Amino acid sequence: MEELDFFTDIRVTEDLPGYFAAKRAECPVVREKYHGVYMITGMAEAIQVFTEHADAFSNAISVTGPIPPLPFTPEGDIRVQIAAHRHQMSWTDHLATQDGAEHAAQRAMLSKLLTYKRLKANEEYVEGLVEQLVEGLIDRGRCEVTEDFGHAVSTLVIADLLGVPEQDRQWLLDALGPDPTQLGGDTELKMGPDPIIHLHGRFHDYMEERLRVPQDDMLTDLAQATFKDGTDPGLAVKARLACFLFGAGQDTSAQLLGFAFRILGDHPEIQERLRSEPERIPDFIEEVLRFEPPVKVLSRLALRDVEVGGVTVPKGSIISIGTIGANRDPRHFDDPDTFDYHRRNVRDGLAFSKGAHGCIGAPLARMEARVAMEHFLGKTRQIRISEEHHGPPHARRYAYEPTYLLHGLQELHIEWDKA
Ligand code: HEM
Repeated sequence: MEELDFFTDIRVTEDLPGYFAAKRAECPVVREKYHGVYMITGMAEAIQVFTEHADAFSNAISVTGPIPPLPFTPEGDIRVQIAAHRHQMSWTDHLATQDGAEHAAQRAMLSKLLTYKRLKANEEYVEGLVEQLVEGLIDRGRCEVTEDFGHAVSTLVIADLLGVPEQDRQWLLDALGPDPTQLGGDTELKMGPDPIIHLHGRFHDYMEERLRVPQDDMLTDLAQATFKDGTDPGLAVKARLACFLFGAGQDTSAQLLGFAFRILGDHPEIQERLRSEPERIPDFIEEVLRFEPPVKVLSRLALRDVEVGGVTVPKGSIISIGTIGANRDPRHFDDPDTFDYHRRNVRDGLAFSKGAHGCIGAPLARMEARVAMEHFLGKTRQIRISEEHHGPPHARRYAYEPTYLLHGLQELHIEWDKA
């Protein structure tokens, strides 16, 4: 496993924990040989990057990692180089890839809009939506989780939160396009364009419309928002924020649901226990996020020489934090390859990252997953993995999404008995 190229070889997807465990066995901070990326596989080392040394790294390559290569040779003041070359770099328009004061100002503006009141109203919508979806599926006794359930939930939830008109939701989803971080073959060719960028125009139009005719939705709040100092960044910046918010929680949330159902289906004893203690569903979700984090790697560019876990990462190097590596670090979690939602530090996982760029949508994703589990577990007696599609328990076949960024099942077929 450790011999494979993480960023191009599809075989890595078949045993992600194995890949990171092998890397960690070498050292929790190890330079891989294909792209010269420092792979970080330990919890303490990841936390060092996210918090202690946060100012030593740029997020400009957070999504893309080493592919495609930087359009400049890092030297001198790398922040100045990034500013000069951002327009040549994929994905660098988004909040997740902004740095410093600009990032902090945009993030603060967006976070302020995710008020308790708005999230509460959204939760009511999710309750109704999930109930309706489960009602529609329950008599069938089977479904393919990612398409029939996961994507429907994650898309409609964020569309409701923002206030995207219903008739446009399918169009926006179709327009999102394929994941640009596809694995296999010539990596430069495979690194496609940013799939979110061409939605800017549509979100710009929505917000212009909201300024003319305000509504009770987040697009209106965003269109009217200003930075803390009272300046208005303009609709172009706000349209990018809205697009990213719309795109960031689609596949990730659907994948969380996929893994949650797979674990339930593969472990009837966990289902049974959860049905008798539904108040532990939030811990179950945390353990799913620890065990199978939907974002595989978080990459950063070192702006200066920096020591991580006793290893000097030279200025200009790319590091990639393997979330599953940190989340299964035996120095932090007892028996890390066992799924146990009763573990004392179940909330320590890094699926949502940490620090300045930690996921803004985490409360939403957790709420969606909790509501989905509550409804499904309540309405069923037994959820099973379809042997027809995935083989018998001792020889399951699961195919994973062919990207180096996201960790997810391509399909998950389940069956159930009604309660
Ligand atoms: C299970 C579901 C999700 C997972 C695993 C996930 C994961 C992540 C991770 C790991 C980051 C940090 C990237 C970094 O440190 O470089 C992030 C950032 C972000 N996520 Fe999520 N996310 C999820 C759902 C959502 C949802 C539902 C939304 C929208 C409502 C969302 C919006 C964002 C935004 C806006 C950022 C950028 C934050 C920043 O850079 O300041 N995410 N997410």
